Amino acid sequence: MKDPRRILLVVSGGIAAYKTPEIVRGLRRAGHDVRCALSTEASRFVAPLSLQAVSGNSVRQDLFDPGEEGEIDHIGLADWADVVLVAPCTANLMAKMAHGHADDLVTAVLLATRAPILVAPAMNVNMWEHPATRANLEILGTRGIHFVGPEAGELACGWEGQGRMSDPAVLVEAVDSLLAPKTLIGECVLVTAGGTVEPIDAVRAITNRSSGKMGFAIAAEAQRRGADVVLIAGVTNLPTPIGVRRVDVGSAIEMRDAVFVEFEQSSIVIKAAAVADFRPAEAIERKIKKEELAGEGRLQLEFVQNPDILADISARKGDRTIVGFAAESHDVIAGAKRKLLLKGCDLMVANDISRIDSGFDVDENAVHFVWPSGEVEALSLLPKSGVSRELFDRIEKLRAPQ
Ligand code: PMT
Repeated sequence: MKDPRRILLVVSGGIAAYKTPEIVRGLRRAGHDVRCALSTEASRFVAPLSLQAVSGNSVRQDLFDPGEEGEIDHIGLADWADVVLVAPCTANLMAKMAHGHADDLVTAVLLATRAPILVAPAMNVNMWEHPATRANLEILGTRGIHFVGPEAGELACGWEGQGRMSDPAVLVEAVDSLLAPKTLIGECVLVTAGGTVEPIDAVRAITNRSSGKMGFAIAAEAQRRGADVVLIAGVTNLPTPIGVRRVDVGSAIEMRDAVFVEFEQSSIVIKAAAVADFRPAEAIERKIKKEELAGEGRLQLEFVQNPDILADISARKGDRTIVGFAAESHDVIAGAKRKLLLKGCDLMVANDISRIDSGFDVDENAVHFVWPSGEVEALSLLPKSGVSRELFDRIEKLRAPQ
């Protein structure tokens, strides 16, 4: 688990405030210590007691209440935060921030804090598009205030358009991203994730159990550390991590073509995708009917070998760092060592896919880092985000000037 950080959640009076307990829960799940400050209007949309219960800290609402100031004064609160998240941020609060108002607790804290401020606007689409709001946005942007959202969609007021506050999970990710040390600035990271899908006929296909979670976590971590990230995704329903460019592919051949396009400008390549080694020799365009089977209730398919993408790019490695993943059901370390030699990458991450608590389609993974020197590092069972952090800590050491 990474070090806990102190997040101050500032809530203003918009309908999206009802989602703030979910934001607090997400931040706490990510290991952070959370305090909340509410405007008077915010407490009409979310009960301060709810936020107190989920944050485990008392909630501040009043600038000069002796009881509240006695525990931690408003300047103390502004200084306490490592990051201030303003969610939802109304048009009114944006205007006040842009013009330096400090006439209540939240505006005073926002003016006094030296911590990075991340704003999640939420308002009616016409208010968002109004020239006054655009001007305030520009002022705040030039002052280094960070923004996440708003998203387009159906708004609480009945209008359609941009103005929805980003989802709580997106906001938690944006906070984490802001906190991460920017150690990969200047690097172009190419990640593959998910399983490939190899068509048999018009309706059937062969794929595997990869969910894409491992590769998506790696892409998110690279982005948090400041890299330019492209994620080549096979079959998966996962949302694209913020700030990551995504290319969707189906078959192993499509994945190879996409990897080749992105490879030239990449400096780090991580192949977490589960690529099919074989595909049906011929993909039949129509649907094979049951009656077409030769009367014996058997269907025989011929398979041909797919290109080995990892081996192909490792042969043209140059000064890139290339990492492979090995999915093994038995003889895990021996299998990973054999693949490392065969494919010629810089590091092989071995997964034991016979375990039900790690590997395919779960949130955690227990991996071994297998190095060309023969050294093997065993990691404990970690969230896939934690595995990604450990991986990039190693990659950064590899790429540091000797
Ligand atoms: O997606 P999740 O549900 O989170 O699960 C994660 C995972 C278990 C899929 C992932 O961590 C993992 O192990 N990925 C690699 C799966 C795999 O294809 O392993 P492999 O041992 O068959 O291949 C070894 C390496 O060669 C991999 O980096 C693979 O991307 C690459 N390969 C394989 C075949 C091929 N034709 N081309 C390749 O590039």
